[in-house]
Amino acid sequence: MKVLILGSGGREHALAWAAARSPRVTEVVCAPGNGGIAQTARCAPVKLNDLESMVRLAVAERPGLIIVGPELPLSLGVVDALRERGLRVFGPTRVAAMLETSKGFAKRFLQRHNIPTGNYAVCATAAEFGKAVDLFHPPIVVKADGLAAGKGVIICPSRATAMEAAQGLFSGELLGAAERQVVLEEFLEGEEISFLCLCDGSHVVPLAPAQDHKRIGDGDTGPNTGGMGVYSTDAMLDPGMTEWILRHIAEPTVRGMADEDVPFTGVLYCGLMITARGPQVLEFNVRFGDPETQAILVRLESDLIDALDAAIDGELAETELRWAPGASACVVASSAGYPGNYKTGWPIAGLGAAGQTPGVQIFHAGTAQAGGQLVTAGGRVLGVTAMADSLEEALDRAYRAMDEISFEGIYYRRDIGRRALKGAAHV
Ligand SMILES: Nc1ncnc2c1ncn2[C@@H]1O[C@H](COP(=O)(O)OP(=O)(O)O)[C@@H](O)[C@H]1O
Ligand SMILES: [Mg+2]
Repeated sequence: MKVLILGSGGREHALAWAAARSPRVTEVVCAPGNGGIAQTARCAPVKLNDLESMVRLAVAERPGLIIVGPELPLSLGVVDALRERGLRVFGPTRVAAMLETSKGFAKRFLQRHNIPTGNYAVCATAAEFGKAVDLFHPPIVVKADGLAAGKGVIICPSRATAMEAAQGLFSGELLGAAERQVVLEEFLEGEEISFLCLCDGSHVVPLAPAQDHKRIGDGDTGPNTGGMGVYSTDAMLDPGMTEWILRHIAEPTVRGMADEDVPFTGVLYCGLMITARGPQVLEFNVRFGDPETQAILVRLESDLIDALDAAIDGELAETELRWAPGASACVVASSAGYPGNYKTGWPIAGLGAAGQTPGVQIFHAGTAQAGGQLVTAGGRVLGVTAMADSLEEALDRAYRAMDEISFEGIYYRRDIGRRALKGAAHV
């Protein structure tokens, strides 16, 4: 079977790597891919913001399975468009993707279905926001309704700063484009967990849990990024908690979508806060996370392609995934200056030696081939991923591999998984 993966980051490299491990897969094509993916898959040019470009490529390639990586093509309806051409695609339709593409839709949906989430208001004007904000106690969370690549959430220390943030979102000053809706949320405290599930429209199969590190700096300081590192262990959620999240969050979400005639197929990524009053939904994503996927897929022992096939065919009820026990961790190496401005084109050295470290897989995010050299080509450059019997050992392996790698201005967090080692993140 030929598999086509749409996307170009570390998540897509991990998906390509996992797909290539399936005995059923004869060829992996990744579009547009990146310099590292090109070493395990054939890369084909495509525009992820252009439906026609993606349809043209898929129709020409005729893959047996298409996996959509990022949210942008999902928000454009790439799944609908490819299915209309008779292609098999793993991912939600444009309307089902609204769980991610409209935070207001997601909050109202959660409330309609009695799924635990913090208090909120969805506001269509600054005046409406001004009234609603009086009902909330600082800190106040202000969110753009639409996709914002991690830049649409502002945690405000006062009502006045919340009002300012909302005005910035409505006017377009903050994100470049004016928001039609702004969501105001109660600030929740606790440990954050990424709980990803495969969904087939009616059934839910959980993936291994993971914890992301969003901030650029050690100790969770500085601006938000796309994700600087992640780890996954079985201990981060005990079986009772996993069961509870399935029964009260993931399953009711998929059932609710089906009841509303928008069956959800694909990855339901539940961003959860484990609070004093139990797990609460912070947000949904409707695709594999990046870098969660890197840490999750190295632990997956089952055939990924079988599982995605079962999801497309509505057969997840019979699917059980096997996971390597122990732990995994992914540490992201980024360009100096990220998430602000940064330079690219620096040669990357040491990948051979780093890749020899036991249990280590290196997934490329922003890399390219230039003049027979691998060079940096993005803010997040590499996801150095390791698995081991314990989190301590997985982190040790990832950091040992990282020590081998160099490029001009390389930056990575030194404290991935550190809080978990102290016991704080075992919820
Ligand atoms: N209600 C909330 N209370 C506390 N922290 C929040 C809340 N909502 C979001 N956050 C923080 O902001 C981050 C980004 O918010 P999220 O809703 O996941 O938006 P996005 O991932 O689209 O930027 C979360 O990972 C979490 O750390
Ligand atoms: Mg998020």
